[in-house]
This record gives sequence, structure tokens and C-alpha cells, in this order.
Amino acid sequence: MPRTEPIKAVRGVRDILPDERGIWRVAEKAAVRVAQRYGYRQIETPLIEHVELIERGVGQDTDAGGKELYRFKDRKGRELALRPEATAGVVRAYFEGGLNPPRPQPARLYLIGPMFRYDRPQKGRYRQFFQFNVEAIGLASAALDVEVIELGRDWLVEVGLSDLTLDLNTIGDQKCRPAYLELLRQYYRPLKDKLHPDCQRRLEVNPLRLLDCKEPQCQPFKKDAPRMTDHLCDECSAAWTEVRKLLDEAGVEYRLNPYLVRGLDYYTRTVFEFYPASAGGQQDTLVAGGRYDGLAAALGWESTPGVGFAGGLDRVTQLMATEGEEVIAQPAADVIVLPDGELDAEAAEIARLARAVRSVTVDYSHRSLRAKMGSADKLGVRWAILFGPDEAKRSVARLRDMASGEQVEVPWSEMAERLA
Ligand code: HAM
Repeated sequence: MPRTEPIKAVRGVRDILPDERGIWRVAEKAAVRVAQRYGYRQIETPLIEHVELIERGVGQDTDAGGKELYRFKDRKGRELALRPEATAGVVRAYFEGGLNPPRPQPARLYLIGPMFRYDRPQKGRYRQFFQFNVEAIGLASAALDVEVIELGRDWLVEVGLSDLTLDLNTIGDQKCRPAYLELLRQYYRPLKDKLHPDCQRRLEVNPLRLLDCKEPQCQPFKKDAPRMTDHLCDECSAAWTEVRKLLDEAGVEYRLNPYLVRGLDYYTRTVFEFYPASAGGQQDTLVAGGRYDGLAAALGWESTPGVGFAGGLDRVTQLMATEGEEVIAQPAADVIVLPDGELDAEAAEIARLARAVRSVTVDYSHRSLRAKMGSADKLGVRWAILFGPDEAKRSVARLRDMASGEQVEVPWSEMAERLA
């Protein structure tokens, strides 16, 4: 059917335009710098993975791994998904790429890239969004929990977001959590009729999620609900004590939040989230993560501990734009060549010469020189190179300093030298 409307972007995704890209670059560069400062190395994994990796890793009954998953069959009928998060893929790559023992452990890895979730679009929540992921895989030390928390905090501080709240909790492990979940079900079952329909459904499949429900009708029941921290096994209890001790020694401030459970199935023990101190809701979480000691085994690989986080670049850049340090948009080029008349080949030649030392753009439109000067002013270039047919014949041009308005005649052959 012929379209009558111009084609627009897919719902829930967006373009990052050149004016915004500057701030993204600052956030990404800071991520790389901070990750490298802690000895993390970059990894890329594909945007497509087997649906099974997501379902067994992230979990089929979670939002990200279930109803929000972009899934499709390829031409050979394989069930594939656009990755909703990176951790399951990074753990897969750790084994497939031989980053596991005998290589030194842990593997310290970071990844920056897009993720996809078919979520309800709203501010700070997109269907394609970008994450900075940090993962330390292969060692169960609580010191690594603290290391990734400090790394996440350093990144946020480095981009100018220092007014932060860090929430911390533990959700136990395969050993102690099942009995705790049963206690939670027992507590909530008599209240079922009073809960939001989503929570009524979660009660049997994923009762932990009752604790981070935001529906007003469910709030009154939370405070008397059993807490994981009262039901930890000895190992989880020791790890919990150690993490808090190391955070205290590092001078990292945190808030114990018994209702922080995270929305992905693979977490064990430590979970954490950084919000802006002024945060109003979950769409404000900037950096979130935790330990995932059961993930590798859930994917069919050798049981291997891991811990990490992901920071949301969309949210971080949005906040940087309003609260962070000012990022001045870079002009597209230092120099613009403005031919007066139809002198495309000559303009291209001058640009080629000047490009040896500066970034150069050319105005090839056949408008008046005055109109071209007006556009050049708006571009924010430092110099304009103006010339007409007579000057072209003599292979000279006028080099204009856009700030002072000063102009000097320069032979083309000396242009690079003058601009250096
Ligand atoms: P997550 O909590 O699902 O965790 O996402 C982490 C962060 O990604 C969020 O705090 C938020 O900043 C950003 N984010 C998530 N969904 C969206 C969205 N729809 N639009 C914009 N930003 C979004 C994970 O993904 C885990 N893989 C983190 C992790 C790594 N845990 C251990 N290692």
C-alpha cells in the first residue's frame, strides 16, 4: 500500500543528533577512562543472541527476558532475540572466547552498546537504549562487589553527577533463597485479594518482585514482610557482612534497602542501584547491578561467580545536560571554504590542502557569498577561505579570521602553513 505520510522512526526509539552527540561522547569517554583505570578491558558481543540464552539467563518470567523481549525467527527458523541486556552474552563470551581458567581470574570486562526492550516508552525509558556494562567474572570475592560499585560511582562523579544515592541489599543465593521465598508467599497469600493484579500473579511465580512493587495498594504490606537479611545462609551472611565492611572502609556511603530486589533472575547476594539524590522513581536509576554466581551454570557452562553493573547512557546524558558540567557543542569543522561562483573543483582543491592541518568543510551551494557567510557564522568555524574566479586564476584566496573579521590574501600553496 503506498504511504502518504513521510516515514518516521519506530515507536520508542530515537536518533541521537550531532548536537547531542557531544555529551554522549563525554559520557562514553569517561566510561572508558574509568574502566581502564580499574584494569577492565573492552569486549563487544553481538546484538542478537539465542532466545534460550536470555530465557535461561535473565529469566522467562522477568520483564526484560519475557514480555519485553524482541524475539524473531531468522530465515532458518532459529529463535533469536535482540539482547535486552549484556551480562548473559558477556558470560557466554567469557567461556566461548576462553577468558576462563587457565587465564588469570577474574576477567575484568566492559562493554558499551545498545540494548532492546519492548517497554512502554516514556522519559528515560526507550525501546533501544545504551548501556555501559562492567563485569568481573571468575572470582567470588566481596572485594569485587565493592570494586564495581566504586567504579560505577567514579563514572557518575566523573561526568559531573555527584549528588547520588546508593541503595544496597542482598537477595541470598540458591541455598537460602528458596526457603525465604516460601516465607514471603506464606506472608502474602492471605493478603492476595488486596494486592494489585500484577502482584497477585507474581505471588507464586516471582514473589521477590512484590517487594519492589510501586502500586499504592501494595505498599502497606511491605513493612511487615519477612526480610531476606534475616534468613541468609552462613556463606551469604558472611559475604553480606564483608561487602558492607569493605564499603565502610572505602568511605562509600550507602542506604540499606530491604526492598531492592532487581528485575532479572540471575542475581545472587549483593544487589545495588545508584539514583540521583532527588530521584522520584525507578525510571531514574542510573547504574544498577549485582552479583550473579548462578548465571554461568544456568547457561550450561561451568559454575562461575560474577559481579557487575550496567549504567544507562540515555539517562546519564539526560541528567548531564541539565545538571552536569557544561559540554560545549563542537563545531563541525575549523575552516569553511566559500567559493564565490561555480568553482567546485577549485574549492575542493583548497579544502584538500587545508585538511592536512585542520578540519575543513566546503559550501558547494550556488548562493551569494553573503548568504554563504551568514551560514558560516552560524556554524561556529574559526576561519573562512573566500575566493572568486580571478583569485582562482592566480591560485590565491582570502583567509578570514571569523572572530576578528581580519582577512589576508594567501597563496593556496601556503594555506596549510598559515592554518597550522
Ligand atoms: P537493568 O537494571 O535492567 O540491569 O539496567 C541497568 C540500567 O540500564 C538501568 O538502571 C537504566 O539506567 C538503564 N536502562 C534499563 N532499561 C532502560 C530503558 N528501557 N531505557 C533507558 N535506559 C534503560 C541490567 O541490564 C543488568 N545487565 C546490569 C548488570 C550487569 N548486572 C550485573 N552486571
